[in-house]
Amino acid sequence: MIYMADTANIEELKKLYYYFPLAGATTNPSILAVEKKPISEIIPAIAEVVGNGMMHIQVSSLTADDMLKESLKYREHFGLGDNYYSKIPVTLEGLKAIRMVKDAGINVTATAIFTHQQALVAARAGADYVAPYVSRLDNISSHGIEVVEHITKTLNHFQLNCKVLAASFKTVDQVHRIVKRGCHSATINYALLEALRSHPMTDMAVDTFTIDSKGIYDIEF
Ligand code: E4P
Repeated sequence: MIYMADTANIEELKKLYYYFPLAGATTNPSILAVEKKPISEIIPAIAEVVGNGMMHIQVSSLTADDMLKESLKYREHFGLGDNYYSKIPVTLEGLKAIRMVKDAGINVTATAIFTHQQALVAARAGADYVAPYVSRLDNISSHGIEVVEHITKTLNHFQLNCKVLAASFKTVDQVHRIVKRGCHSATINYALLEALRSHPMTDMAVDTFTIDSKGIYDIEF
């Protein structure tokens, strides 16, 4: 399982990259809108923080032709390399765009996935990643974890060259359960990444170690 940061906040991203073993960053128009800054500022800043790590940047266009143009424009305008993934929602036009963007040599992450079949058809179209939305499924009394599990099993079963990038997490338990089901990767926001690392027993243990270490560790470093 690999972790990515689901944020476009550059301070958060820097802090997360400083402490966590992250494989990349993901955004969508809503995540970008929170920052109240134009993408011409945010995308280069994300690129600088992630370095060679993956950058999953979502298109805002609605037709396949425009999604292709937008993806090509980002690559050219921001000088993005092989670590750039164009995030494309699995609308009908998006499905067509996945093939077109892949044919243009750009990686694709099919997003806004809510069903097993959406994921499979996106994978067949050439998507490198499919992003099912766990919390949004749970919030409509559906089963986000099961959808992730079924997609993961199917991609593995048919040996498709596509991985699951589970998204839309609200709890540590959701992350825990998709890991147990063999999910390849997850994109997680700042607060939740910190929450899945932290535990009061760890802090208590370190407090005790610190007290007990006094006067024993006599070598300078
Ligand atoms: C990935 O980037 C998804 O767009 C994101 O995780 C969706 O999260 P949300 O359901 O909390 O908006």
